[in-house]
Amino acid sequence: MKWVYIEDISTYDGQDVEIRGWVYNKRSSGKVRFLLVRDGTGIIQTTIFSEKKNHPLFAQFDQLTQESSLILRGTVRQEPRAPGGYEINVKEIDIIQIAEDYPITPKEHSVPFLMKHRHLWLRSRKQHAILQVRTEIVRAIRDFFDGRGFRLMDTPILTPSACEGTTTLFETQYFDQKAYLSQSGQLYNEATAMAFGKVYCFGPTFRAEKSKTRRHLIEFWMVEPEVAFAVLDDIVVLGEELILFIIERVLERRRQELEILERDTKPLERITRPFPRLKYDDAIQKLKNHGSSIEWGDDFGAPEETLLSKIYDSPVCVTHFPAKIKAFYMQPDEDNPEVVLGVDILASEGYGEIIGGGQRIHDPELLERKIKEFDLPREAYEWYLDLRKYGSVPHSGFGLGLERTVAWICKLPHIRQTIPFPRLLYRIYP
Ligand code: 4AD
Ligand code: MG
Repeated sequence: MKWVYIEDISTYDGQDVEIRGWVYNKRSSGKVRFLLVRDGTGIIQTTIFSEKKNHPLFAQFDQLTQESSLILRGTVRQEPRAPGGYEINVKEIDIIQIAEDYPITPKEHSVPFLMKHRHLWLRSRKQHAILQVRTEIVRAIRDFFDGRGFRLMDTPILTPSACEGTTTLFETQYFDQKAYLSQSGQLYNEATAMAFGKVYCFGPTFRAEKSKTRRHLIEFWMVEPEVAFAVLDDIVVLGEELILFIIERVLERRRQELEILERDTKPLERITRPFPRLKYDDAIQKLKNHGSSIEWGDDFGAPEETLLSKIYDSPVCVTHFPAKIKAFYMQPDEDNPEVVLGVDILASEGYGEIIGGGQRIHDPELLERKIKEFDLPREAYEWYLDLRKYGSVPHSGFGLGLERTVAWICKLPHIRQTIPFPRLLYRIYP
């Protein structure tokens, strides 16, 4: 008999197949036993029917506990009353292991309990749906950039210098010298962009952030495009197009998962380009009008981002931030050097920043001055300064946080559910 996956079951109507999986749930009703089996790609209802009370399949059924592993053979049948529209009439069961008392039962569990059992929690329906959406978004991101001629250029994880400020660096020992876990691949992207024109990197990044919020992870994945000769406006458009591409892809391929998550998709379906754009100055004014006590020069905190993204019924692009609150590499505005050509794109429905980026300094003297002003060790940035000596050009890029995007698309209350094994301020287990 052919081993098949539940997600493909509709192509086997009427045929005998083999399913390899785990017991999700079971119940009996008179002469019928219902066994819900999951195989990683889906859940299917399987049925055992017999007039005889002592049928050997009934005895096997009685033995099976939640999450017991098995191989099951039977006939696929269309059944409108079954979840998914198909069921399997069981002919044979090979039990592989009878599971011990499974700690995660259909009753409610506390978050700390579930986090401690994350290795098992992943099997639950909602967690499974979230991670299916995550892999779809990863694929969409790759398709988006690959389809537009971007070259994937992996950037190092062990680095000798900071990209996003020295306060959130993870320090480690690199033989007899110090190294840091990458906060962003950007600086290396700038080098590969000068070699390949349009590039992107997509990998794990690390921030020793002492923030315990619903949108901060210590280890998260970021996709970062970088484009030679692009200016701020080009990169804002690229960011909008990427976000729309992701939304359309998930709506097209992962409706079922969004349904499991009870995600109302209308707010996502409404989103169109261009997103509203406002300069930092205007954003401050808007926030004040809505009762915020923020002052010019302050960075947005979560409450300000949430407020802004609630004022508009769409993602919002904020540009022209005060230089003081942004990274050393940001290109100052020609008309007002107090502000820089950076952009943050805030997701809608109160989810806040998902993209951060902008135009980079291409003038060697200015960059050198900024490195001094930010008190960064020049030696570590010698190679980065080189990029400005040999055919320097304006260039721009951004980073999109994968987990924040997943949280928004799935409308989750917390970022901890968006990655298989979240690293949080006080959690590195399991
Ligand atoms: O705004 P950030 O810090 O920008 C950079 O790192 C740039 N060097 C990227 C670039 O221009 N190539 O981070 C970019 C995005 C944020 O908008 C957010 O989505 C995500 O990365 N992010 C986090 N996600 C989860 N947990 C954290 N602690 C995050 N910090 C940033
Ligand atoms: Mg940012």
